[in-house]
Amino acid sequence: MPPIRTDVRTILRNGLALHPIATGTWAVSRALHAIGSRPGSSQSHPQAFEVPVRYTQHMPLDLDPGSAALGNPRLVQAIVAEMADGPIPFQRFMELALYHPEFGYYRKAGRIGTAGDFVTSPAIHPMFGWAVAGWCRDLWKRLGEPAPFTIFEPGAGQGALARAVLDWAEGRTDGFRQALRYVAIEPNAPGDDPRVEWADPPLKPVAHGVVIANELFDAFPVRLFEATERGPREVHVGWDGQRFVEIPGPVAIIDDAPSEGRFEVNPSTYPAMSSLCSLIEHGGVLVFDYGYPQDGLWAPWRVNGTLMGFYRHTPTEDPYQHVGEQDLTAHVNFSELAAAAEDEGFTVFGPVKQMEFLYALGLPSLVGAARDDVQEFFIRRRALEQLTDGAGLGRIRVLAATKDVPGTPAGFLEGV
Ligand SMILES: C[S@@+](CC[C@H](N)C(=O)[O-])C[C@H]1O[C@@H](n2cnc3c(N)ncnc32)[C@H](O)[C@@H]1O
Repeated sequence: MPPIRTDVRTILRNGLALHPIATGTWAVSRALHAIGSRPGSSQSHPQAFEVPVRYTQHMPLDLDPGSAALGNPRLVQAIVAEMADGPIPFQRFMELALYHPEFGYYRKAGRIGTAGDFVTSPAIHPMFGWAVAGWCRDLWKRLGEPAPFTIFEPGAGQGALARAVLDWAEGRTDGFRQALRYVAIEPNAPGDDPRVEWADPPLKPVAHGVVIANELFDAFPVRLFEATERGPREVHVGWDGQRFVEIPGPVAIIDDAPSEGRFEVNPSTYPAMSSLCSLIEHGGVLVFDYGYPQDGLWAPWRVNGTLMGFYRHTPTEDPYQHVGEQDLTAHVNFSELAAAAEDEGFTVFGPVKQMEFLYALGLPSLVGAARDDVQEFFIRRRALEQLTDGAGLGRIRVLAATKDVPGTPAGFLEGV
């Protein structure tokens, strides 16, 4: 098969624009997840059941996790149906696993937080949102306190960040709250804070505002490649009758691609960042995400790539387990974010680590401010540790892009 020319920048430019994914209803009953539960274990059947003789003998238990470990059986069925004509690219598999209109992982609320599969910064404590609000107000002041001043938040989830930002703004007496309009874009299980406009694209650009994206880009489906002697071969996914299996796809030509191991290409990073920048005539875009500039992302030693699953707070390396019940994520190419912003006429700052950014904004002072309330003091102290943990949320990268805003935005001054 001749190699397919896959110039990353071209696919990124022509790839998906940030578009909403039609809101579906998550209609699978909990009962489906009970597959594999032990007979007789339910409190509703208290009477002893007859133990078949064979169970009394030395016989290994059947520990095959079966379809329960494979994932949501109805989603598995839907994905297998898509494979009627053969294997599908990994990107399509990931898209279905996360965003299938009915059974995709993100269609259901409650995925984020201690009762879900992973935590994000807004779920730790409102302190994170208060810091973001302070950053936005600083930009608003530098712009001469325009009204209206719009905050767009794509991928707002259930609105934890929006709530914290608006609560913080309500405590100001300088006109910031009155100027503020908060627009959230969330196609899956959105929140319902009435102070927020829950909008669907296409959105109208604004004269003055900010876009805040927290862990948006790392939730986009990625193309997965495996380096071979002939060049990077795209990973496709098929079904062998019992489980999903990887099938080698066509060879692609990708500039500067790693020559060993696996790596991902996120075709939505560049066009999504471009469309977010194009929403703002004067103002900024602030992105928080796991990732690196391209040379770090595709470093020769990173042979397994960055694709990961999260299931009940446990990282997994197998995207074909718990399908529709585990988060799938891949690190973001910050060089693409920066290139998209620059091409839109923005000046780029960072990326810096979230740990450095939050310290530079003065987050520890919020812990000190709760000194009179011992319980809240310790809650905030713990939250500060989590938000700035160099092995956890603190290693998230933060990138700012500004247009027509004087000076360096807060949190990006070197040595501060
Ligand atoms: C990892 S979650 C982060 C949620 C939230 N920002 C937080 O930090 O808790 C990613 C979110 O991005 C949303 N998302 C994915 N694709 C999107 C798109 N094209 N437009 C808007 N939101 C999207 C998902 O539905 C999900 O809520």
